[in-house]
Amino acid sequence: MRPEFDRNAQITVRQIGPEDWEAYRDFYMSLRDPHHFRGILAGKDPDDRATWQGLFDATTGTGDYVMFGMEDRKRLIGQSGIQFLRNGDQVTALLAGSEIADDRRGQRLVDKLYQARREYLRSINFQGPVITTISPGNTNSRTAAERNGFSNTGRFDEHGYCIYVPEDLG
Ligand SMILES: CC(C)(COP(=O)(O)OP(=O)(O)OC[C@H]1O[C@@H](n2cnc3c(N)ncnc32)[C@H](O)[C@@H]1OP(=O)(O)O)[C@@H](O)C(=O)NCCC(=O)NCCS
Repeated sequence: MRPEFDRNAQITVRQIGPEDWEAYRDFYMSLRDPHHFRGILAGKDPDDRATWQGLFDATTGTGDYVMFGMEDRKRLIGQSGIQFLRNGDQVTALLAGSEIADDRRGQRLVDKLYQARREYLRSINFQGPVITTISPGNTNSRTAAERNGFSNTGRFDEHGYCIYVPEDLG
């Protein structure tokens, strides 16, 4: 069921990092089916600070990954990232890992994460290709990507995910 529109919502998006580990833990642990970073977190103690520090070290700490958090009145309700894929001299920005809290899905809040990532790429004057990849069965993600100006190239990445590119980075 589509959640009620909350007229008191105060949604903001910002870059997040290791100092946000507690908010990130609460967000991640509340998800019914958390699928991003499962590999990094497998077998780790969710109540140990080091678990979440490790996650940020393995992502944002590499310099190849920028992570964004969406908050409503200080509660983290979504996350997303940009992974910079390097191949020789070419760097591709992969818009990756969007996840919205279960009770906030279906409100098009993911658009704010698309917007934040576009703004970030503009702020660093990123000139390389931009892509996003979507599992063939993920219709919610596909709907959101298409609404945000991405179209299916018909090509697949090494995981069998469909590669989408923006018609215009805007
Ligand atoms: C994919 C995802 C990020 C989209 O975020 P979102 O803010 O819910 O996006 P939207 O509101 O645009 O929803 C997209 C579609 O999902 C459907 N939907 C998802 N949750 C819904 C809900 N609770 N109620 C009604 N419709 C819902 C709707 O069909 C909607 O399309 P529409 O608004 O054109 O009808 C979010 O569903 C999510 O976190 N999914 C789990 C993680 C994932 O699969 N991430 C993408 C891979 S990187």
